[in-house]
Amino acid sequence: MNENNLGLILDYNYMMADYIGGKGITAQEIESLKEKIRLSHNNMMIKKTNGMMDFRRLPFEQMDLVSEIKEYVNAVKNDIEAFVVLGIGGSALGPIAVQQALNHPYYNELTKEKRNGYPRLYVLDNVDPERISGFLDVVDIEKCLFNVVSKSGSTSETMSQFMILEKMLEEKVGSDKIRGNIVFTTDREKGNLVEIAKKKGYRSFVIPSGVGGRYSELSSVGLLAAAMCGIDIEELLKGAAYMDELCSREDVYQNPAYMFATLHFIAMNQGRNMSVMMPYADSLKYMSDWYAQLWAESIGKKYDLEGKVVHAGQTPVKALGVTDQHSQLQLYSEGPDDKVIITLGVKEYKKELMIPAVYEEIKNISFLGGHTQNELIHIEQASTEYALMRSSKMNMAILFPRVNAFTIGEFIQMMEIATGFMGELMNINAFDQPGVEESKNATYAMFNKPGYESKRREMEEAKQKEERFIIR
Ligand code: PA5
Repeated sequence: MNENNLGLILDYNYMMADYIGGKGITAQEIESLKEKIRLSHNNMMIKKTNGMMDFRRLPFEQMDLVSEIKEYVNAVKNDIEAFVVLGIGGSALGPIAVQQALNHPYYNELTKEKRNGYPRLYVLDNVDPERISGFLDVVDIEKCLFNVVSKSGSTSETMSQFMILEKMLEEKVGSDKIRGNIVFTTDREKGNLVEIAKKKGYRSFVIPSGVGGRYSELSSVGLLAAAMCGIDIEELLKGAAYMDELCSREDVYQNPAYMFATLHFIAMNQGRNMSVMMPYADSLKYMSDWYAQLWAESIGKKYDLEGKVVHAGQTPVKALGVTDQHSQLQLYSEGPDDKVIITLGVKEYKKELMIPAVYEEIKNISFLGGHTQNELIHIEQASTEYALMRSSKMNMAILFPRVNAFTIGEFIQMMEIATGFMGELMNINAFDQPGVEESKNATYAMFNKPGYESKRREMEEAKQKEERFIIR
């Protein structure tokens, strides 16, 4: 880490009883968890070495992949206008969040020259027919490179998009040239995309088998999309490696990921059922979308590790500072004590914008003149945190010295480790998603997919909806 790449800061003062009184967390409460924290740390270390937490290896073991991606990007970027990710959930939210964090806020609207020769980026993470049709109105598919991202290679949403677009491409560019328009990111050995790639000769990047969807942003899933729009992927990995080392410390007071999870764990056990992430930067807006999936899908579980029904979890909520001060903040400061609020702050924004000293005669706006919007957003964030503290609402801040590839890498790794650690504290599996599988299976059954006959029967035999509970 050099002075341009300073570390993230976790400030949890306003979580503590010292500030918010009886509704806050005491030093003794953290101390009383010391043994649990020690055991959870040991489990984390075991999982780190035995292949059960492979996302932790990503920052350290991908130098070959980085070279391969860079070479590929340089070879194709001049020939394409847009790089289009077809993926959903863990295969989409990371690429969106990283691109929004690190590129120009209106990246796609810049000329290619202003994008330094890199293509526009689209991520189609839904199957809404209006969205895909609308997308087809604004691009020329011949000039698009479609990146089909699916670890399983069977997700209906992604596969349906692929099937639609591949057919269109075949008709437009022909089967021999289509290989220039399609690239896969998938498992090394398993799944339909592996077979299709072999059959049709599509280029493929590999998602390591031990890395699950929502923990995969720093694998080929996120690195290819990031490099394709000019983001420094080595710096992303360096930031993640730096944070990983910091978060390998057993001492919770020296480990921001462990402290983040421990405070959430205590808060959750005291009825704080929600975790609101509120970045004070448009660049970080989609980081809270990414966090929402990570936190929700990882810790929202029916069973604990012993198979006991626990229905555990904490609902993540996305908010944006300052925008949502004028929408959700009233509830946060005066409503129920059921949430932890995490603000994300930025010390140095990429730009500075001066507010001119005009309207001196109108005192209730002239006070703004001569200041910058940077000061305004900083002060509004500090004021919100203060106001929440005054109303005894738990809040903590994560401060980015700057938003750059290094600090974004740090943030991703910190949140992923915090999520894994939260799973340990809660004694649940933070790496599976049986609830998502259940809905995928119901979709397959309704489409008569072979192998899902008994699910279909179960659905047909289930109590059907009644007219008396519907208002028309
Ligand atoms: O985190 C997860 O595992 C999920 O959100 C998956 O990423 C999502 O369901 C897409 O799965 P796949 O990559 O297999 O298409």
